[in-house]
Amino acid sequence: MTFDDTFDRVKTRSSKWTAMETGFGLTGDDLLAMWVADMDFRAPDFLTDATRGLAQAGDYGYFNHVDSYFEAVAWWAATRHGWEIEPGWITPAASLGNAIAFAIQTWSRPGDGVAILTPVYHEFAKKIRKNKRVITELPLLAEHGRFTLDFGRYDALMCGTEKILILSSPHNPGGRVWSREELRAIADFARRHDLVLISDEVHNDLILPGFTHVPTALAAPDAAPRLVTMTSASKTFSIAGSRLGAVIIGDEVLRRQFADTVSRADLAPNLLGVALSRAAFTPEGAAWLDALIPYLAGNFEVFRTGMGRIPGVDVHRLEGTYLAWVDFTGTGMTDAELWARATEQARVVPSPGPAFGTGGSGGLRFNLGTQRARIDEAVGRLGRAFADLQ
Ligand SMILES: Cc1ncc(COP(=O)(O)O)c(C=O)c1O
Repeated sequence: MTFDDTFDRVKTRSSKWTAMETGFGLTGDDLLAMWVADMDFRAPDFLTDATRGLAQAGDYGYFNHVDSYFEAVAWWAATRHGWEIEPGWITPAASLGNAIAFAIQTWSRPGDGVAILTPVYHEFAKKIRKNKRVITELPLLAEHGRFTLDFGRYDALMCGTEKILILSSPHNPGGRVWSREELRAIADFARRHDLVLISDEVHNDLILPGFTHVPTALAAPDAAPRLVTMTSASKTFSIAGSRLGAVIIGDEVLRRQFADTVSRADLAPNLLGVALSRAAFTPEGAAWLDALIPYLAGNFEVFRTGMGRIPGVDVHRLEGTYLAWVDFTGTGMTDAELWARATEQARVVPSPGPAFGTGGSGGLRFNLGTQRARIDEAVGRLGRAFADLQ
């Protein structure tokens, strides 16, 4: 298999390719889906073999090998990220979306504040609101084609009711890989305001050449008594449908509190998730990932070169993730006009910037986790849709 092989995800009923009507009211076979954060590659053989193994065994009953998942997560954290963890620090959750909701429920009450660094993964805000907590937005600065932290403003923006800060590291949608110093500053801020720091590291393996992801736990060891790290194989291997994530907590008190929420919901990992994640967090998985990264870097170069030709458009450098942020504010267009040009003229469907909160206006997020031919096609179409600016 090569990453260039075509793969029809309409047939597999993927959300990315078949939910654009429910998501945005968009219909038509010509639409190019570049929104939902999963990739368009057929699963590699070691994952298909794992599911085949399950089918051949013919036993889908209750099972007793979740420990092997914890060991695989710990092996991966040590070998890929230099982070030694105990398998016993892990509590499983049904996806990281689920883990974030449980974290909000564990460490805050209705009416409490939860801080987020915006623009950020839109589901953080949705989950805070659905759980009847209040969002405190700490906007990032967009400077020279990258988002940076703006600590000069953050203390004054806090209301005093906040109990939690949720961080996306690497950052979705900005594609930033936070440095050790930035992570330390975030951990310091959490300590000053006595917040539980949720470090959502779901994109931690998708790091472009020249950058290194540092787990928050390593950048800020002092934060351990307030730190909750979340990882998963779901983005790296595009297995989000198997709904499994790892919540890694070194601190015993926090771990017990989180495990209690999970236990009250009677939640336990599912068989498919364990089989796929176990097969992913292996040397075969590492070799596949090592081949994927240069492909994604190549996609970004094609995208950046093409989009960079449109006057007033600033493509943020992709340091990590496969989600490229494009700042169109220099074009002077409204969000409605940008959206219309992308989706109606170019028939390309990115994620709308305003969905990511304050600082998202004037931007669009494009998912580059797809075949190179689709990136070429998208860049060509978008170039034509904005051709009057040239
Ligand atoms: C930062 C971040 N956290 C969590 C998730 C959701 O992960 P999961 O599929 O494990 O719920 C996403 C998906 O895009 C994400 O970008």
